[in-house]
Amino acid sequence: MTTTTTETQSPPREKAVGRGIDRVDGPEKTTGTARFAAEFPYPDLAYAALVHATVARGRITGIDVKAAEAVTGVLSVLTHLNAPVLKPAPARSMLDLSTMVSATSVNYLNTDEVHWDGQPVAVVVAESLEAARYGASLVEVTYQEFPAVLDFAAEEANAKPQPSSILGPGSAKKGDAEAALAVAPVSVDLRFTTPPHNHNAIEPHATTAVWDGDRLTVHEGSQAISWMRKHLAVRFGIPERNVRMTSPYVGGGFGGKGSIWPGTILTALAARATGRAVRMMLTREGVYRTVGGRTPSTQRVALGAGQDGRLTALIHTSVTRTGKVGGNSESVTEAARHLYDAENILVQQKLVEMDLLPNTFMRAPGVSIGTFALEAAIDELAGELGVDPIELRMRNEPERNPLDGKRFAHRKLREAYALGAERFGWAERTPEPGSMRDGRWLVGMGVATAYHSSVQFTANVTVRLSADGTVVVRCGFQEMGMGGATAQAQIAADELGVPFEAVRVEYGDSDLPTGPMAGGSAQTASIAASLLSACEKLRGSVLALARRSGDSPLRGQRLAAVEARDGGLYRRDRPDAGESYEAILYRAGRPSVEAAIGSESGLGALAGQIRFMAKFVNDQRRWVKAASGAQFCEVRVDPDTGEVRLSRWLGVFDVGRVINAKTAASQLRGGIVMGIGMALSEETLVDPRNGRVMNPGLGDYHIPVHADIPPIDIHYLDEPDPTMPLGLIGIGEVSITGVAGAIASAVHHATGKRVRDLPITLDKLL
Ligand code: MOS
Repeated sequence: MTTTTTETQSPPREKAVGRGIDRVDGPEKTTGTARFAAEFPYPDLAYAALVHATVARGRITGIDVKAAEAVTGVLSVLTHLNAPVLKPAPARSMLDLSTMVSATSVNYLNTDEVHWDGQPVAVVVAESLEAARYGASLVEVTYQEFPAVLDFAAEEANAKPQPSSILGPGSAKKGDAEAALAVAPVSVDLRFTTPPHNHNAIEPHATTAVWDGDRLTVHEGSQAISWMRKHLAVRFGIPERNVRMTSPYVGGGFGGKGSIWPGTILTALAARATGRAVRMMLTREGVYRTVGGRTPSTQRVALGAGQDGRLTALIHTSVTRTGKVGGNSESVTEAARHLYDAENILVQQKLVEMDLLPNTFMRAPGVSIGTFALEAAIDELAGELGVDPIELRMRNEPERNPLDGKRFAHRKLREAYALGAERFGWAERTPEPGSMRDGRWLVGMGVATAYHSSVQFTANVTVRLSADGTVVVRCGFQEMGMGGATAQAQIAADELGVPFEAVRVEYGDSDLPTGPMAGGSAQTASIAASLLSACEKLRGSVLALARRSGDSPLRGQRLAAVEARDGGLYRRDRPDAGESYEAILYRAGRPSVEAAIGSESGLGALAGQIRFMAKFVNDQRRWVKAASGAQFCEVRVDPDTGEVRLSRWLGVFDVGRVINAKTAASQLRGGIVMGIGMALSEETLVDPRNGRVMNPGLGDYHIPVHADIPPIDIHYLDEPDPTMPLGLIGIGEVSITGVAGAIASAVHHATGKRVRDLPITLDKLL
C-alpha cells in the first residue's frame, strides 16, 4: 500500500509528528531579530580582513606591511613573521569523528609555504571593516614559485585508486563486467564530465572571536560546533572546556560550514594577538578563495544488457580531485553499488591530488554528480533498447543489494515510480526525441532515481520536564534553516504527551550536551535516537515518583503499562486512571525531573563513541540503508537559442517517516533547486595556468534565481523505516541526487542531443 502526503494534504493527526508545523525560529528570522555569527556585539570589537596568496605553490620571500600599518585605524598586520603559535591540525581518524572538521593541514601564518592560490598569508586587524579591507589591499607579498599541479583534465591519467574511508568505499566488483560488456547484445559506453562547484550560502562565512584569559568564545555559522570546539582547543593548546562555539542560526551550510576553514582559525588567532574581540566576515570572493567546494569529475558509465533489458554489465568509474593539503574522497559511484541488479558490476574511484584549495562536503558529495552520469546512461541504454526508461529501471530493480546480497532496510522505488508516473502524467510522453512541442518550444520529459545512503552520529541529549508541564530539550546541534529544532520539539511533545507549544529546544551552543554534526543527512535521526531514549528515561523517573505514593492511581504500574498523554501519565488498560505531571511532581516536591543520554566526560564519551561505532558497523553489515526517490521533470528548449527552461518538477521520496511535512518538503525542494543549478548553470572556472578561480562571485558563477525554478511538487511515501529511530531517514541530501540526470534526459527527449558535460548550457545545444 502506498500512502502519500504532501504538505498541503497531510492527514489530520493529533500527534505533533507528521504535521506541517511552522518553524519555531521563523518569527526571529522574518523579523530580523535572529542573531547571526557576524552580529554579536562586543564593545571593543575589531575587524579582520585576509590577504590571499597569488601563487598556487611557493614560498613567501618578502612581505611588506608598512603601507597597511600606516592606514588610520589599522591595529595589527599579522603574518608568518609575527603571528602567535598555532598547533598543527589533527589528522583525520575514524576513531575520533571530530577530526573530520580538519579541512586542511596548513598551519596558517605559522609557515612561509603557499599551497593554493587564495591561501591566506596575512591578516589585517583594524578598528573598522573598511580600514581592515583597505589595509589588506596594501600588503605586498613576493614569492618564490614552485611547479604546481593545476590542470585537472591533464591529470586524469595520473589518478591513483581512492582508498576506502569513512566517507565511502573505494572500489568493488562482482563477476567480470568488462567481459560481459564486450559480449552484451546492447550496450553503451559513455564518458561524462562535471566541473568544480563552489558554495554560495546566503550567509557568507563569518566569525566573531573573543578571548578571556585562556578561554575562547567563537560565534560562527557552523555545521559542527562540538567538533570545531575540539579542533580549536587543539590548535590553541587549551583544554576543550575552555572553548565555546555558538551557532544559533546558520544562513545555509550545505557542507561548506562542516569543516574548519582558515577564516575561523585566523579570527581566533587575530583576537589572541590583539587582545580584542575580532570579527571577520568573508566577502563572497573570500569564500571562493578559502572555503572548498565540490570536486570536478570525469566518469565512465558502461552498461551492457540483453534484448530483454536485463543488465549483464554495469561499470561506473570516476576520477575526482582533492588538494595536496586536504580534502575529501567523494563517493561518486555510490548509487551504482545499490541501484541496479546487474549480473556483473565494477565500480572504481580514482583521485588526483592537486595544488588547489581542497574540495569539501557539498550536498550529497560524490553522489549528486555520480547520479548525473549513471542515470543519464540508463536513459541512453533505454533509448538503445527502445524501452521506456522507467520500465528499464523496474526490470533491473533488485530484491537485495546487487553487490553483496545484503538486505535493504527500506526500498520503495517501485512505489515511488508508480506514484510519480501517475501524478506527473508520464503516459502522455511520446518516446521519440523532438516529438513533443508547445508552440515554438521543444518539450522534453525526463526521469532519474535519487539515492543517498543513511548514516548516524552520536548525540548527547538532556530533557527536563517542569511541574508546570513545560519541557526543555537540550543538545548542541545546528540549525541551518532546515527546521531541526522544530522537528525535535515535535518528537519530544509526542513522547511526553505534551502540546508542541510546551516544548522548547535549546541548540547551537557547544556548552550544551555534545551534539552531532549537521551533515551526511544525519542530524535529525541522530538526535532523535537519543531523544527517544531520554524521554523514555524521563517517563520512568516520573512514574517512579508516582509509584511511591499510595494516593496515585499509577501505584505499582510498570512503565510499559502506562502512556504519556494529555500532560501526564495514564494507564493503558484504564484510560481514566492516571495523573498529570503537575500532580505527580507537586506531590513529590520536585520542581522538575531531568533525564540525560550520553556522557560528557572524556572517558565516558569515548566509551559511548565506541559503543555507538560498534552498533553502527554491525548495522551497516546487516542492512543497506538509504533514502531514495524518483525525480520527474519537464523542460522546454528554444530550438533557435538552445535556452533550457524547466516547466515542471515532481519528486516522490522514500524518506521513511516524515517528522514535519512542511519543513521536509521545503528541504527536499531546496535540494532540487541546488541540483537544477548544477545541471544548467553552475561551474567554477579554474585557470589551469595558475590555479586561480576566475569567477569568484555571483555575477559570474550562476546559481538559479526564482524565475529559473518551476513549481516543484513533492510527495512522500510516508512509511517508517524499521531500522531507524521513529522510522525516519535523513532528507538533507537525497533530493539533489538524480536531478542533473533527469534534466539531461529531458533535454535529450526535447532535442535529440545528449549533453554529457555539465552544465548543460545553450552553446552545447546549438
Ligand atoms: Mo552535508 S554535504 O554533509 O552538509
